Amino acid sequence: MKTRFLNNVKIVSTGHYVPSGVLSNEDLEKIVDTSDEWIYSRTGIKTRRIANGEKTSDMAYLAALDAINKAGYEASRIDLILVATCTGDYRAPSVACRVQALLGLSERDVACFDVNAACSGFVYASSVASQMLNGGRYSSALVIGAETLSLYTDYEDRGTCVLFGDGAGAMILESTNEYKPADFYLSAKGELDLSIVINDKIAMDGRKIYQFAVRVFEESIQKIMLDNGLGKEDIAVIIPHQANLRIIEKAAELLNIDIEKFYINIEKYGNTSAASIPIAFDEYMSAAPRQENKKVIFVGFGAGLTWGAAMLTL
Ligand code: UT7
Repeated sequence: MKTRFLNNVKIVSTGHYVPSGVLSNEDLEKIVDTSDEWIYSRTGIKTRRIANGEKTSDMAYLAALDAINKAGYEASRIDLILVATCTGDYRAPSVACRVQALLGLSERDVACFDVNAACSGFVYASSVASQMLNGGRYSSALVIGAETLSLYTDYEDRGTCVLFGDGAGAMILESTNEYKPADFYLSAKGELDLSIVINDKIAMDGRKIYQFAVRVFEESIQKIMLDNGLGKEDIAVIIPHQANLRIIEKAAELLNIDIEKFYINIEKYGNTSAASIPIAFDEYMSAAPRQENKKVIFVGFGAGLTWGAAMLTL
């Protein structure tokens, strides 16, 4: 049997950036045949932020800067930049390379690339960063989730346009000799008949995704807890991908975990894809006292289909 080595990584700082433009349910009532009542009761969303000229890399950079400033972190220590995104500025170069340049780190030895696992991207990128830090070559990883979904949102389709928003979140991880176990579970079920796709515009089969999401949220959280011998009391917070409040509530009910353990901010930002987990995590870290050595669980799902969960130690 293969021996499984737990990763060891330290969460040094977090940050986020959301654009100032607000698109409310009332604004959407003027664009498509919908209502604040329908949107809020079916999704939990009231407003979302929309970029006004800011590129994904600009938002990613500002989220990174927030994380750097909050910890008074020496940016020159960063030797790995990973950006989870499916809405990069260009097909190439990566958003990660743009962030390196914007941070003034272009003359330094930094590995930079993007990770595309759609809305699961930040869980995937956190795993890649952690494995690379534990590989011994890298010591400081800037992991970002950043998206400009408004560029791909069809504002004539009421079934999708009410859901999505823009933003970015960042996390700095370091390799450490302290005992800070981390573990990751990633999975996918590639589809030929795409139930969610971002091409020119976002198209999806909402009901199918909804059912899939509830199932994989429950299974992924259960798996990461079981594999690491975690009880509910070991967990400080669960940060779910913010796609629909009802999906989170249903998963919490099936898991018999108090909904209060889940950090939820979907009301303000809607679904920001790979950015939703790091934005929510930064809000949580900024608001709550750090429960040293307790666990944080990220859980996500998205196009692919992809899903996964991460366990980190505070
Ligand atoms: O990051 C992954 C991204 N995707 C997701 O997370 C999507 C997961 N799915 C969902 O969140 C939900 O399925 C939706 C919020 C998209 C839709 O909620 P639902 O309760 O599954 O509604 P539905 O699609 O079954 O539609 C129910 C009704 C339909 O009308 P009829 O056929 O019953 O007359 C829709 O046409 O609601 C109608 N409808 C709307 N009505 C007012 C759909 N969108 C809207 C709208 N405003 N915006």
